[in-house]
Amino acid sequence: MDTEVSVIGLGAMGSALAGAFLTAGHSTTVWNRTRDTAPPLVVRGAVEAASPGAAVAAAPLVVVCLSTYEAVREVLSPCAAGLAGRTLVNFASGSPVQARDAADRAGALGVRYLDGAVLTTPSHVGRPDSLQLYGGPRPAFDGHRGVLAALGDPVYLGDDPALPAVHDIALLGLLWSTLTGWLHGVALTGADGPGGGVSATAFTGVAGRWMKTVGRLMEECAPQVDAGEYPAGEFPLGQHLMLMGLLRHAGELRGVESGLPQAFLKLAGRAVEDGHGADGYARLIEYVRGRAAR
Ligand SMILES: NC(=O)c1ccc[n+]([C@@H]2O[C@H](COP(=O)([O-])OP(=O)(O)OC[C@H]3O[C@@H](n4cnc5c(N)ncnc54)[C@H](OP(=O)(O)O)[C@@H]3O)[C@@H](O)[C@H]2O)c1
Repeated sequence: MDTEVSVIGLGAMGSALAGAFLTAGHSTTVWNRTRDTAPPLVVRGAVEAASPGAAVAAAPLVVVCLSTYEAVREVLSPCAAGLAGRTLVNFASGSPVQARDAADRAGALGVRYLDGAVLTTPSHVGRPDSLQLYGGPRPAFDGHRGVLAALGDPVYLGDDPALPAVHDIALLGLLWSTLTGWLHGVALTGADGPGGGVSATAFTGVAGRWMKTVGRLMEECAPQVDAGEYPAGEFPLGQHLMLMGLLRHAGELRGVESGLPQAFLKLAGRAVEDGHGADGYARLIEYVRGRAAR
């Protein structure tokens, strides 16, 4: 084999992945359907393959980064035999079902399949703190961990190839709810004060520090969720509910419309109505899961 790794698909993300392998000094083969994205990588030392089959044949580790699982299947099906015995990492975004299906088909062909998720934008690929998630056979991950580390911080989640997809979407949900909560705060503080309100930059200086407290609360709640026990601690749910009412009131006064206070009040209100006002915040998992006994 000619190179250490092949990258199939050189869109925004695939180009960034190939670039990070080159930056880390790994010999890299590249292929893209339309040929205008390979030359900048070739200038940096990549070898351009003439076909997906040639890219597969060129390295023991094949990284594929196409728009969809359907595109991955279309491109790789003709070179399935060549993939046998190699490790295939698939970074296409998709569902857990698609990931398991792709793993089953790859396994039947003797391919060591890792499903992956890149938890960053292309410009951050290669930074040591950018996360990539992997699921699939442990030996396949361990065998290529050193090369994959060129992309950032590789996190192995377990044997199940669906784990990266479900983590990816769960973490995006966390991102969107956090960013929307931050925007809600920007709108509230920006609409207040004698001088016309606080700038987003000034609010963010305080909010960034507050996020450490939020992280600590998640760490406190996690074992309670796992144990199914929700002791009140210093900040019981009834108190949260009262403060959520204040958040809604503050937004109404200033015309803020994120919908967040209403969502919070609905969840916490049901729990308090059910007699859980003295419990800790982690009690809400029962309502989020839709399994609360009424
Ligand atoms: N960009 C991000 O910030 C980001 C972050 C995390 C995950 N991702 C995921 O990474 C994957 C790729 O994203 P991207 O940003 O690189 O997208 P992109 O810039 O739109 O590139 C898409 C790539 O897929 C190829 N492709 C699509 N359909 C194909 C087909 N039928 N046959 C052959 N090649 C095909 C394209 O080839 P052509 O150039 O020939 O069209 C191109 O290489 C997606 O699943 C995306 O969700 C992206």
